[in-house]
Amino acid sequence: MDLQLEGETAIVTASSSGLGKASAEALAREGANVVVCSRSRERIEAAAEDIREEAAEGAEVMPIEADITDHDDVVALVEATVEAYGGLDHLVTSAGGPPSGPVLDTPEEEWYESYDLLVMSVVRAARAAYPHLADSDAGTITCITSTSVAEPIEGLVLSNSVRRAVIGFVKTVAREWAPDVRANAVLPGAHETPRVSDLIEQSLERGEYEDYEEGLQDWAADIPMDRIGDPQELGDTVAFLTSERAGFVNGVSLPVDGGRLHG
Ligand SMILES: NC(=O)c1ccc[n+]([C@@H]2O[C@H](COP(=O)([O-])OP(=O)(O)OC[C@H]3O[C@@H](n4cnc5c(N)ncnc54)[C@H](OP(=O)(O)O)[C@@H]3O)[C@@H](O)[C@H]2O)c1
Repeated sequence: MDLQLEGETAIVTASSSGLGKASAEALAREGANVVVCSRSRERIEAAAEDIREEAAEGAEVMPIEADITDHDDVVALVEATVEAYGGLDHLVTSAGGPPSGPVLDTPEEEWYESYDLLVMSVVRAARAAYPHLADSDAGTITCITSTSVAEPIEGLVLSNSVRRAVIGFVKTVAREWAPDVRANAVLPGAHETPRVSDLIEQSLERGEYEDYEEGLQDWAADIPMDRIGDPQELGDTVAFLTSERAGFVNGVSLPVDGGRLHG
């Protein structure tokens, strides 16, 4: 299926690594110009180099240092994109992960910080992008969240609680901003990103597994597909939702989790 994204422009936030980077790669492979961002100039430039290797001929990759918790950085990110490419067609939001821990061990400031990182980052990027997305013939917003919005994950009270606001936001703009802009969320289950690989390596060092493969298998224990996801599979799903091939898909929360969610 040709997603027909050639010549379109996408911003992917928090994309020096993991699911954001995989989404940027998928969009670039389909011919879109992608603007990627993270807090570190060095990391985002390195990621941009990797993404360029995957990109279709003619697709450009522009790295920008921007902190998604900083309003001015996000506005500047959108402005730089529009200046470079003459418009903006797609916004894909990712973020870092919030701290883990149970309710009573989670200090009040971490709730606010997680709200800022996971929710306000989406709100501020979407609001800054909206006029340009609305001007596009194909405007979309796709938010990378977590299966935790559908089913709580043990020990992740911040993800379980705070991320649900992103779904409320997506459902709202899917109505308020349609038909000009479609908005959807993807709900990743476990994927083998650098963050997850690090967690498996740490367990390995603590002697919890014999080898890395055993760790992977443990992470896949309750996944009917019997494995965790390849970040590229999540990226491809994002690219599909972004494309006009999904032109009637609006306001959905799509799990990409190998069938782990029960509901
Ligand atoms: N991987 C999974 O299995 C999985 C499953 C469900 C949900 N999720 C969620 O999906 C999101 C992405 O996960 P991941 O595994 O891809 O994580 P990751 O590999 O750690 O990547 C996180 C990215 O976010 C960037 N970032 C963090 N804080 C930022 C900020 N304030 N401003 C700009 N960029 C920022 C990081 O870049 P810099 O450090 O260079 O700034 C990095 O590129 C997280 O919210 C995670 O909780 C992941």
